[in-house]
Amino acid sequence: MIKNKEKITVKLKKALGVEKVKENVLLAPLTTFGIGGPAFWFITAGNKKEILEAIKASRELKIPYFILGGGSNILIADQGFPGLVIRIKNEGLTIKGTKIAVEAGLPLAKLVEIAQKNLLSGLECGVGIPGTVGGAVCGNAGTREEWIGQKVAKVSIIDKKNKIAHLNNRDCKFSYRESRFKNNPQEVILEAVFNLKKEKREVIEQKIKSFLEARGNQPKEKSAGSVFKNPPGDSAGRLIDQAGLRGKKIGQAQISKKHANFIINTGGAKAEEVLKLIRLAQKTVKEKFNVSLELEIKLVGFNNETMKQ
Ligand code: EPU
Repeated sequence: MIKNKEKITVKLKKALGVEKVKENVLLAPLTTFGIGGPAFWFITAGNKKEILEAIKASRELKIPYFILGGGSNILIADQGFPGLVIRIKNEGLTIKGTKIAVEAGLPLAKLVEIAQKNLLSGLECGVGIPGTVGGAVCGNAGTREEWIGQKVAKVSIIDKKNKIAHLNNRDCKFSYRESRFKNNPQEVILEAVFNLKKEKREVIEQKIKSFLEARGNQPKEKSAGSVFKNPPGDSAGRLIDQAGLRGKKIGQAQISKKHANFIINTGGAKAEEVLKLIRLAQKTVKEKFNVSLELEIKLVGFNNETMKQ
């Protein structure tokens, strides 16, 4: 719990603007899951400068912060987030030859569409994935074999000393659904440069079509996408399904009948209910197949005790 909440509110407002800093903002509507309690403090940052100021203020006041993009790969606790949520809305984009530089707040869908329009190939695997470019880079979104990180030439970040730093592809440590950013909130993605390839319209269209088809077995209800990463050589969805949990419901949260690696919110689900299904799936799959399922989604606002259980 944060002590001196009122005092911090005054200081935050002084640093970032009275109008800009909101209090007790419900986060559920800002996530694709539609789940999550309020942020103690909340600010929308439309550009690099505003993001940097918000990070600096949080660090100076020693309060936790969380960068919220499209809210598509996260489960926010029912108690909400006990700090400052910085919702990023920096959406600039420039094309130079076969390179596209994009700010982190642009929806990935827009980037994929713009690349396609400009006959630039390489980001087709991002089609149909919700969320922002920053979120996609952080979680290395894509399919199992192809991912966004493979096309990243450079990422600009705010580092832990509040300085802007530039990383190359290797620095980002991309692997299947992983990057150096995933468990490192000390570094905040501001912009990414993608290195693409000129391609014929038909080839790009065909790729887009086949990536969309591969997503055809995914549920349309509110969810956070795949809950678990695929274990090496297998499919989390297949394992949960074979463990007999497809359709299992706890409260208003349900393991999708369509695809067992998705948990859906059937209306008013609590984060606690989703967490119970997560644990049940992990326990059952471990018992039946001796496979440990690792979370792909990020848990936000849960205390350490909850995480350990
Ligand atoms: N399967 C079942 N039962 C289920 C679900 C799947 O038997 O309930 C079987 C399928 O029949 C198939 C296999 O498991 O033989 C793999 O399933 P699928 O083709 O749906 O792919 P996936 O491995 O579950 C991955 C990504 C998705 C991505 C799709 C398509 C992960 C964790 N998931 O799913 O990514 O959209 O491939 O490219 O890597 C995400 O990460 O959020 C995500 C949606």
